[in-house]
Amino acid sequence: MNHEEVFKKVISHAKEYGFVFQSSEIYDGLSAVYDYGQLGAELKNNIKQHWWKSMVQMNENIVGIDSAIFMHPSTWKASGHVDAFSDPLIDNKDSKKRYRADVLIEDHIAKIEGKIDKEIKKATKRFGDDFDAEMYRQTNPRVKGYIEKITDIEKRLKQCLDEEDLEGVKQLIIDEEITDPVSGSRNWTDVRQFNLMFSTEMGSVAEGANTIYLRPETAQGIFVNYLNVQKTGRMKLPFGIAQIGKAFRNEIVARQFIFRMREFEQMEMQFFVKPGTEMEWYNHWKEERMKWHLSIGVPASEYRFHDHIKLAHYANAAADIEYNFPFGFKELEGIHSRTDFDLKQHEEFSGKKLQYFDPETQESYVPYVVETSIGLDRMFLATLCASYQEEKLEDGSERTVLKIPAKLAPYKVAVLPLLKKDGLPEKAREIIDTLKGDYMCQYDEKDAIGRRYRRQDAIGTPFAITVDHQTLEDDTVTIRDRDTMSQERVKAAELFSIITSKLKG
Ligand code: GAP
Repeated sequence: MNHEEVFKKVISHAKEYGFVFQSSEIYDGLSAVYDYGQLGAELKNNIKQHWWKSMVQMNENIVGIDSAIFMHPSTWKASGHVDAFSDPLIDNKDSKKRYRADVLIEDHIAKIEGKIDKEIKKATKRFGDDFDAEMYRQTNPRVKGYIEKITDIEKRLKQCLDEEDLEGVKQLIIDEEITDPVSGSRNWTDVRQFNLMFSTEMGSVAEGANTIYLRPETAQGIFVNYLNVQKTGRMKLPFGIAQIGKAFRNEIVARQFIFRMREFEQMEMQFFVKPGTEMEWYNHWKEERMKWHLSIGVPASEYRFHDHIKLAHYANAAADIEYNFPFGFKELEGIHSRTDFDLKQHEEFSGKKLQYFDPETQESYVPYVVETSIGLDRMFLATLCASYQEEKLEDGSERTVLKIPAKLAPYKVAVLPLLKKDGLPEKAREIIDTLKGDYMCQYDEKDAIGRRYRRQDAIGTPFAITVDHQTLEDDTVTIRDRDTMSQERVKAAELFSIITSKLKG
């Protein structure tokens, strides 16, 4: 199966089993807006809890808040979003498709990177074990040429974006002979800027009403509450404020399922530090966040850092943690050193001081901020893609299994009476009663046991407990492991502690 096929399968699996539905599907859907179904809501909640626990519960100097989506309109003037939160767009005159010009160029760079990978794979085959890929990159003329080309394109793109030279961006597309991915045409319009914020009016009549925006990031809700939290929580630098919540962006190029949505959720943490220490904390959080991803159990080869060429207007350093989605390595999380830009801007626009009195130095100053910002929906998609597997079994049959890390799985346990009679269903329900206060459990008595195991595999339930006639005699049950499919017989009375220790392990 190629990557595209895998992705299609993941999308249809997500719908078939109640993870993700298109929003307002009965009206043919709303583009780039999705609803989470009964299993999706569980998985999403588990990801949120896992993040909240590791950021807030495990760090005594980080606290969490929940700020409103609507904010005073001046917030977005101050943050720079009204003036600068836009994408450079370009249309293809033949296909009538619209693209982000910078993304077209980045995709072009990715294609050249693909050519380098191919050359290295070919050479690895040719030279065998002694092959030194790094040396080959530095010395092979063709690979060197590709690397020089990438460096040149990146340099030109950065310069154009920094100088807001939209004609220069178009010229780069023309010079690189970049074609429309749909039609193959090179018939491009000029590049224009397009603001991504949704606006609406507050008040019952449009006349005299204030234009307000649906927040495009949760971060500003943290900045405007910085002093409230610092004072009421008696927080000392360095400290962090975390929040999970909805954000909205009028994405023009919305594609790849829940990767780029118009309504999505972010899990953000702003870490306030003493000016001058921000690079130390920036590196700390880069490392910590990568560790968090790896602790979930996906191989390290599926992640990489990408340092930004073009820095956002508020940042002095920024990197993405990219995940190897079926459509290539793409941004999953951003780590940004935001300087004192946001707090200073809010001081200026609100006329209120947002300073910290440092008891050690007896000075007041505006703290610097290091931000970690992960898209919950992208984390959800990465989890689904990493877990989806089709396996051929020893008996020649096949199964589709979601090997979701147990702590994130929607249901932890399925309890299955072997037969629908002889008191087995009653015993199964009794077992569920001992577990459901702590773990999401599913009861299933329909169809042969093999089919029921397959259903649980398909939704990623890590443990299936089967109640049979022996259970009635000696109060033991079998517990089946989703990944290995091995079964062991255990005492029903010990199930809670067995499952708890397996989940912790
Ligand atoms: N506060 C900083 C900020 O918002 P960002 O890089 O624009 O930075 C952070 O967004 C994260 O939010 C991204 O890494 C991505 O995971 C997620 N994200 C951004 N736009 C998104 C979209 N349209 N759909 C889904 N997730 C998105």
